[in-house]
Amino acid sequence: VRIAIPSRWIALSLALIMKDSSIAVVVDVLKEKVAALQPGDALPSSRAIVEQHHVSPVTVSRALAQLAAEGLVTIRPGAGSFVNPPSKVAAGEFRDTRWQAVPLADRTVDSSNLEFLLRPPPDGMLSLAGGYPHPSLIATRMLAAAAVRAARRPGVWERPNPAGVLPLRSWFAKTLGADFTSADVLITDGGQSALSTAFRSLLPPGAPILVESPTYLGALAAARSAGLRPVPVPVDAGGIQLNELATAFAETGSRALYCQPTFHNPTGAVLAENRRAQLLEIAAEAGAFIIEDDFARWLAHRPPAPLPLAALDRDGRVIYISSLTKATSANLRIGALVARGPVAERLRNLRLVDDFFASRLLQETAVELLESPAWTRHLQSLSSALQSHCNAMVQLVSRHLPQASVALVPSGGMSLWLRLADGIDEFEVVAASERAGVLVMGGRPFYAAEPPGPHLRLSFSGVANVRELEDAIVRLAGTMNSKP
Ligand SMILES: Cc1ncc(COP(=O)(O)O)c(C=O)c1O
Repeated sequence: VRIAIPSRWIALSLALIMKDSSIAVVVDVLKEKVAALQPGDALPSSRAIVEQHHVSPVTVSRALAQLAAEGLVTIRPGAGSFVNPPSKVAAGEFRDTRWQAVPLADRTVDSSNLEFLLRPPPDGMLSLAGGYPHPSLIATRMLAAAAVRAARRPGVWERPNPAGVLPLRSWFAKTLGADFTSADVLITDGGQSALSTAFRSLLPPGAPILVESPTYLGALAAARSAGLRPVPVPVDAGGIQLNELATAFAETGSRALYCQPTFHNPTGAVLAENRRAQLLEIAAEAGAFIIEDDFARWLAHRPPAPLPLAALDRDGRVIYISSLTKATSANLRIGALVARGPVAERLRNLRLVDDFFASRLLQETAVELLESPAWTRHLQSLSSALQSHCNAMVQLVSRHLPQASVALVPSGGMSLWLRLADGIDEFEVVAASERAGVLVMGGRPFYAAEPPGPHLRLSFSGVANVRELEDAIVRLAGTMNSKP
C-alpha cells in the first residue's frame, strides 16, 4: 500500500525537527488547513494540533493568536477556532497604496536591527543577541512591588512637572556628582528617546555627527532618522582614538560627538583615564558638544563604574544620557538627559513638543524602586551574574571558537565583541547559528561605514545561566567548525 504524503508536509515536519521557529511552522500548517475549509468550519482542537505536530500547547495558542490577528479565524474560548469568511483584501482585491511612494520619498527609517535586539527569542531558541538581561535577571518581584506602591502614591495620576518628578531628577543628579542638581535633569522615556532628542536638538538635518567605530546601532539609526550623517572614528581598548578624533573634527567641521566612555557597546571598552581631559579639550577646540551615553552605569561587573565624563565638564559641553532599563527591564522606560546652559532649554522644549512628559506612574515606580533596599541587593546580584556569565563566555569562546579572538575582556556591560578570522562571512555565521537555534548579532550593523573585518557581538546576559551559555556557544561552534 502506498501512502501519498505531500512533500510540503515532510518539509514542515523536518523544519519542526530542526527546531525552526515552531510557531511560524504551525502557523503555516494551520493556514493550509484554513484554505481547505469553508467559512464557519472548526479547526482541529488545540490538543489535536499539539499531538499531531509534537509542539507545546503554548506554541499552538500563539500560532492560533497570530491567525486570529490576521483575521483568518475567530477564537471562541471553550468552543474552538473557526474559519472566517474571506475578506475582500484576502480575496485579492488588495488595497492599492502605491501612490504613497511619492509623498514618502526616500526618507525611510530602518529599524530592522533594532527590532532584532528587542524581539524575545522564539520558543526553543537561545539568544546571544539581545540588548537586555534575561527575564530571570530582572528581579520581576522587586519591580512589581515598586509598581504597586507607586500606583498608590498621592498625585500619581496627576500631571507631573514636564521635566520629571523631583525625587527622580535629584537621584539622577546625585549619580553624577556634587556639581549637578535636579534642575539640570530632564526625565525621558529611556535612553533611546533621549538620544533622538539630543541629536535633533543639537544638529540640523544634513550635519555630520562623529560617532565611535563601532558603535551602538540604535544610535546610528536615531542619528540617521534625524537626517544626520554619522562619521566614524575608531576605538581601541582605551576608547576613542584621540588623534583620529581631532582629524575628524577638523575635516568635517562637525559640532557633536556621540560616545560611550563607560562599557562601550559593542566592544566593552572604557575610555582610558589619560584620554578624558584631552577628549574634552579636543571637543572644546572644535566648538562641539559631546553626547555621553552612559547606558551601562549599573552594569559594572565589579562596581563602582568609572566616573562619567560629565563629572569633568566645566562649560556645559557634555550632554549626559542615562537610563534605568538595562539594570531593570526594557519596560521600565525611564532615562535622563542632563545638560547645562542654553542647550538644556532646547532639550526641554523639544521633549515637550514631542512627548509632553514621561508617564508619571513609571517615574514614581522608578522612585519606589531606587529608594527600596531591594535595589542595592538587585544591583549586587546582577553584577555578579554578569561577571560570571562574562568569565564563562570568555573561556567557552577560547575553548570552542578558534576562528574568533576576544580583543578585550569587558569589566562591565552585557556583551563580548569578537573579531572573526579574515575571510569568514559573518552573515553566514549569523544565519547558520540561527538554524542551529542560537541568535547572535553580526558586527556589520554596528559600523557607520565599511567595517575593518568580520565580527560578532555575543551577549552573555540574554541566557538564564552558564549551562545555557555553554549550550549556545557549543551550538554556534558546531556551525562554524563545520565550515570548510
Ligand atoms: C549604548 C546604548 N544606548 C542606549 C540604549 C537604549 O536603551 P533604552 O532606551 O532601553 O534605555 C541602548 C540599548 O540597547 C544601548 O545599547
